[in-house]
Amino acid sequence: DPSLPAAVRIGLDEVGDHIKLRKVDDPESKGTRVRVFGRVHRERKQKDVMFVTLRDGYGFMQVVISGQLAKTYDAVTLTRETSMEILGEMREVPAGARAPLNRELHADFFKIPKHWKAPGGDDAITNRVQADAEQAMLLDQRHLTLRGEVASGVMIVRDAVEWAFNQAYKELRFRKVSPPALVQTQVEGGATLFKFDYYGEDAYLTQSSQLYLETCLPSMGHVYCIEKSFRAEKSLTRRHLSEFTHVEAELDFITFDDLLAHIEQIMCRVLELVMDDPVVSEKIKAMNPEFKLPERPFMRMKYSEAIDWLVEHDIPNEEGKPHAFGDDIAEAAERRMTDIINRPIFLTHFPAEIKSFYMYKDPNDLRVTESVDCLMPGVGEIVGGSMRMDDYEELMAAYKREGIDPEAYYWYTDQRKYGSSPHGGYGLGLERFLAWLCKQHTVRDCCLYPRYMHRCKP
Ligand code: 4AD
Repeated sequence: DPSLPAAVRIGLDEVGDHIKLRKVDDPESKGTRVRVFGRVHRERKQKDVMFVTLRDGYGFMQVVISGQLAKTYDAVTLTRETSMEILGEMREVPAGARAPLNRELHADFFKIPKHWKAPGGDDAITNRVQADAEQAMLLDQRHLTLRGEVASGVMIVRDAVEWAFNQAYKELRFRKVSPPALVQTQVEGGATLFKFDYYGEDAYLTQSSQLYLETCLPSMGHVYCIEKSFRAEKSLTRRHLSEFTHVEAELDFITFDDLLAHIEQIMCRVLELVMDDPVVSEKIKAMNPEFKLPERPFMRMKYSEAIDWLVEHDIPNEEGKPHAFGDDIAEAAERRMTDIINRPIFLTHFPAEIKSFYMYKDPNDLRVTESVDCLMPGVGEIVGGSMRMDDYEELMAAYKREGIDPEAYYWYTDQRKYGSSPHGGYGLGLERFLAWLCKQHTVRDCCLYPRYMHRCKP
């Protein structure tokens, strides 16, 4: 209808004085005429009126389509996920009815170009993505499940968390660097290396950027990176991916206590920043209604104390026997302990034999290292860190013990030759952090397109 006023283009979450609502108790009042674009998230018919929930990635808007418009072919055959351009008046929602932001758009015109339509029938999105469908099937349809509220909610929280890490590091004057993903050294053991042919030489996808971060300390101060790490994990668990996002930092001239205090500080600052964003905190609360900022200081527990705790609580090791000093605390036992204690735990001082070659030994007890795992209820380990060996001879002996050829590590070893320093750092698995924050059963739902054993698509 060309006699109608020109419409203002707005986003579905847009609010402000420039958008007036027609009042329910004053039919003479005028609402702003707007133009919106989005996809049909839900639709329902009530007699001759259609209610469409439109979605655009920033928000949702209720659209009312009535009269002749509701009788058009496009309205009658409207399917979920169809893209639409809609014009109409913004109005208050009648008492007793509910709609996002308490307003609705009464359409006077809409347009659906042919290629904007989504299929119905067998190929309808609701048939491709059933709520009770199997994980594998849902993951094959990840490009469509990502349109759902939970899947997209986790990704929106993820975006906020990544930004918050950048801001929190900036506040602490850490510098961001970008180490390579294609490498010729291992960090966390040969068993999980992805090997490939690099112009006729053996090379690997990196397991961690730690060794490279260490080389930045002498000239850049504290450094961090947010990069992909790769592990050829040969088991299917709910917390292991083949490709994950690793938030890693390295700090110079520190003590082990400084390292623990810093890890706690950065995690809490990130949570504070994320919860300060009303849109993001609402999404977190929808997925994880009991979420509270963790109590500080985090509980600290030595590995040897954890072994005693597991024995006292009759939680056996992987062979079904009582835990003993030297055992690796397996995933199931670790999670049971964390769930019972039900708060973040810094588990520290792991025996040298079960930890990585580069870890600094505790001068008060040479059996153990100055190492830490941060455990969270529901997930278990989300951070692994340590102080690093800073003595040249000791590092050479560690290579030997692990059967590593020091030649490929000359650049790492040189750090101990040209002005060594007491330093340490950590890696935090972003997907595990999110699984905890958004109360997701598996890290697979915390990345865009998960990669794990036997899955490399879509
Ligand atoms: O404990 P990790 O193996 O430690 C390192 O890689 C150190 N080099 C990091 C450092 O000090 N800069 O891994 C650190 C964290 C784990 O706590 C976990 O959150 C995550 O990385 N992680 C994984 N996340 C998903 N899938 C996997 N396969 C993971 N392996 C480790």
